[in-house]
Amino acid sequence: MSPQPQAAVGAPLSRVDGRLKVTGQAKYAAEHDIDGVVHAVVVDSSISRGRITGMDTRDAEAQRGVLKVISHRNAPELAYREFPFIPFPGERIHIFQDDRVRFFGQPVAVVVATTLEAAEHAASLVKVTYDAEKASTDLDDAPAEAGPLPFAQPYSRGDADKALDSADVRMEMTYRLSRNHHNPMELHATIARWDGDKLTLWDKTQHVIGVRDELASVFGIPPEDVRVLTPFIGGAFGNGLRRWPNVTIAALAAREVKRPVKLVLTRRQMYFSVGFRPAYEYKLRLGSSRRGRLTAMTHDFKYETSSYERFWEANLALGQMLYAVPNVSQTPQIVPLDVVTPIWMRGPGYSTASFAMETAMDELAYELRMDPIELRLRNEPDEDLSSGHPFSTRRLRECFRVGAGKFGWHRRNPKPRTTHDGDWLIGTGVATGCYDVFQSEAHAHARLDADGTVVVQSATHDVGTGTYTSMSQVAADALGLAMRHVTFRLGDSRMPPAPPQGASQTMASVGTAVQNTCDKLRQQAIKLAVEDERSPLHGVNADDVVVRGGRMHAKGSPARGETYRQLLARNNRTHLEASGSYSPVPEQDRRFSMYGYSAVFAEVAVDARLGLVRVRRMLSVYDAGRIISPKLADSQALGGMIQGIGQALLEHTVTDHRDGRITNANFADYLVPTHADIPDLKAIYLDGEDYKADPIGVKSLGELVMVGVAPAIANAVFHATGRRVRELPITAEALL
Ligand code: MOS
Repeated sequence: MSPQPQAAVGAPLSRVDGRLKVTGQAKYAAEHDIDGVVHAVVVDSSISRGRITGMDTRDAEAQRGVLKVISHRNAPELAYREFPFIPFPGERIHIFQDDRVRFFGQPVAVVVATTLEAAEHAASLVKVTYDAEKASTDLDDAPAEAGPLPFAQPYSRGDADKALDSADVRMEMTYRLSRNHHNPMELHATIARWDGDKLTLWDKTQHVIGVRDELASVFGIPPEDVRVLTPFIGGAFGNGLRRWPNVTIAALAAREVKRPVKLVLTRRQMYFSVGFRPAYEYKLRLGSSRRGRLTAMTHDFKYETSSYERFWEANLALGQMLYAVPNVSQTPQIVPLDVVTPIWMRGPGYSTASFAMETAMDELAYELRMDPIELRLRNEPDEDLSSGHPFSTRRLRECFRVGAGKFGWHRRNPKPRTTHDGDWLIGTGVATGCYDVFQSEAHAHARLDADGTVVVQSATHDVGTGTYTSMSQVAADALGLAMRHVTFRLGDSRMPPAPPQGASQTMASVGTAVQNTCDKLRQQAIKLAVEDERSPLHGVNADDVVVRGGRMHAKGSPARGETYRQLLARNNRTHLEASGSYSPVPEQDRRFSMYGYSAVFAEVAVDARLGLVRVRRMLSVYDAGRIISPKLADSQALGGMIQGIGQALLEHTVTDHRDGRITNANFADYLVPTHADIPDLKAIYLDGEDYKADPIGVKSLGELVMVGVAPAIANAVFHATGRRVRELPITAEALL
């Protein structure tokens, strides 16, 4: 078939849903107007570990408007059947099924009332007593164990210990990363409504199918009887990738009071019961020749998990494939603590490992008196040493070349603490970013109506990434339609199934499914035309027909053709429709090593007397495959850099280990970057489609943009001050 002209893809279009968003018409989970809705407020535990010994709900129940207080004492037994999307080994929390407390802030009861105010007040009147046990919430203060197999498999190649013994240069560093919280703007929220035995949920989630299946499993009902709707998401960064207790509680409460129930977590509750990026201690040893060829690298690290589930994330890949190191060993360990289970947060695993590795590379560069870019280039591998596979595409050298030129890297004086601007010490730093090209099976459906417009749908999500827009662009070009004639729908578990919107897989997976679906639909229309004696295209080879602006024409003779509308009208067809999908090559059968790459440059100013760090400018150059939607890509890139600035300098969840309480569980005390913290940020995308990665040539972007940012900043801080800080965030105290 003839390739379709690409007009929408690659164009810097604004969001198709932009107007809905800025006029408040885009409905987020808690905003749906559901008749007869009542309100639920969660009561959560004030200990980290132990048993509930008493619960006095009399005062709460006596309040006007209170319909019911539900806890383990009166909750019905729930089915909790196995289901396919349990992310971590272990056992889920079974809501209100026993008296055990496993983390501070665990929901122990819910109050349902006719108004939110009544529910809040009544919740404050529930008196819970506990038999508290000694709890561990401190990574440094609890025993580590082997990571959860097969996800955290120890790894080795060559003999790292031996190679270290004989290395010209040996270094050993321990890096630490604090616990971080996702802090999306939108709170976790659910509206649950039962119609007989059928459940509808308006829920904040990155995986409508996962919510459907888990709620079906919890209540022991068929998945077809659960419908989950998530048309808009106000950010999530990963904490919508699994189901947390609040969703089950909303559905349970609705069933108990026989009314639709709305449950919105408070900002404070967002810190206790919906996961976090775990703290790490990451010991890295490396060996190198004098000329900067790495000979060995060892990674010994430990991170937090909960007492009841074994959290894992992709923290091993970088150490295995980023550099041409012949001898590598990795020993991942987890520390079970009395906390809620962590959950993937933007660039999960990669951003953590990259802080250790990319800071270590900078440390080695100074040790060798070598330019840190040159050191990285000397260790560029020819293939993925973990698998022996060639790279689908890897243009990291070009990322550094382009970035160094645009950033003016080589103008720096490499000696630390030599560049000043008034009272400020100025430094520049660089790091590599890298993230997997992850893909899953995805499905879509498209319907072309007689008026020449199309509706395409898939049960995917728009976490803020711009899925409505990017999918419309793919559909528009595959069908040869103007953007305004394309509507993309998502966020309904009854639509054709799609994976979670996570791990940067949506464009590759759902985008390919959308293209496949629309290709089929276009070919169907073309076939109808070339076989139709009344069509000007009759007899033309179907492979030689392309569509532009809704009009099919023979390639090379644009006058010979007709529109979809003409074709459908003449054939008395109300519509044409097609279903399509994408089934990626399973991970174990891949013949290529597929990753997105970046070179990240940062300039900082440090006031050494005050310990203040200000990022002055950043530039990232991405090798991310084909860029479907440059304006949306830019939003991702800027967001990733901003979140990376947060990780580097501000974000730090502080726990009081006496009782496991998070002491900065609010936006005033948990610092994230504000506009005043954000300088001139620039993103550059290398041209280049990667059709070995997937049929639409994209790699991955949403996570990649976060990886490498924190080490680039940390390396710039070292260059400015001569002080090497190996712990995130870099606080004023660390620099004084
Ligand atoms: Mo991303 S951590 O996969 O939402």
